[in-house]
Amino acid sequence: MSADQVRKAVVPAAGLGTRFLPATKATPKEMLPVVDKPAIQYVVEEAVAAGIDDVLFITGRSKRPLEDHFDRNLELEEVLRAKKDDHRLALVGESTDLARIHYVRQGDPLGLGHAVLCAQHHVGNEPFAVLLGDDLIDPRDPVLPRMIEVRNRFGGSVLCLMQVPRANIALYGCPAVAVTEDPGVVQVTDVIEKPDPQEAPSDYAVIGRYLLDPAVFEILKRTQPGRGGEIQLTDALRVLATMPAEAGGGVHGVLFTGRRYDTGDRLSYLQSVITLATERDDLGPDLIAWLRQFVADLP
Ligand code: G1P
Repeated sequence: MSADQVRKAVVPAAGLGTRFLPATKATPKEMLPVVDKPAIQYVVEEAVAAGIDDVLFITGRSKRPLEDHFDRNLELEEVLRAKKDDHRLALVGESTDLARIHYVRQGDPLGLGHAVLCAQHHVGNEPFAVLLGDDLIDPRDPVLPRMIEVRNRFGGSVLCLMQVPRANIALYGCPAVAVTEDPGVVQVTDVIEKPDPQEAPSDYAVIGRYLLDPAVFEILKRTQPGRGGEIQLTDALRVLATMPAEAGGGVHGVLFTGRRYDTGDRLSYLQSVITLATERDDLGPDLIAWLRQFVADLP
């Protein structure tokens, strides 16, 4: 199997962020800060660290702040330059210089599968990564390079799987799996979107990182609305799982055991922010001292 380079990433960002209202009334949820950086910047940095230099955001209405964040801010740059504040000037430039960023609008938010289908024209006929902004993967535990390796070995598409308590499986896509000769990789024989825990085929959750064969596009075009009335990426993956390799089929899963932070709901978002802040040299020591005292003083 020839080693395809994965150059493009697709980042769906058209959701309404209703779980964070009113904060997300006029601000995209992707722009909520995780410590001092918008959540979405971590995701783009992860893609870039895996050798991807082209990022397509699938956006919707009221996503202008996201576009502005990855654009230059000349006025701010000028003020910081005049003040000779090189440190902050570099921070302002970081997001602009990361990658080539493109946007396409989803129009009707018909589901994750539909969002991915909106990328077809831009992606063309090459394998591509999909990164969901609610999942942050710790840069110390990179998973995309491993997923690229697995695609180069097995072909087809690759999922990122994490073991979760069975009670939580209803929040995720859940695969039926078979072993391969590599203990860290499974073959995915089926995937169910958000099954009832009693009916879940495994206790693996699909985490928001995908490496997809372009064959997914033709399947998505034929995919009918599924769970929640939405066109589900999961439903296209279950078709890919049973298709022959010559047609771009086959799905494998990388068993991920690294650090992942969920910013998708309020409680896990707060936990993510605190965890990441405690690990920072500039904030951690003071925050930890304060947290210890805060907890000790709790009634
Ligand atoms: C989506 C997918 C689901 C996947 C999850 C990962 O669900 O539909 O299969 O497990 O992302 O975060 P969402 O969280 O958008 O409801």
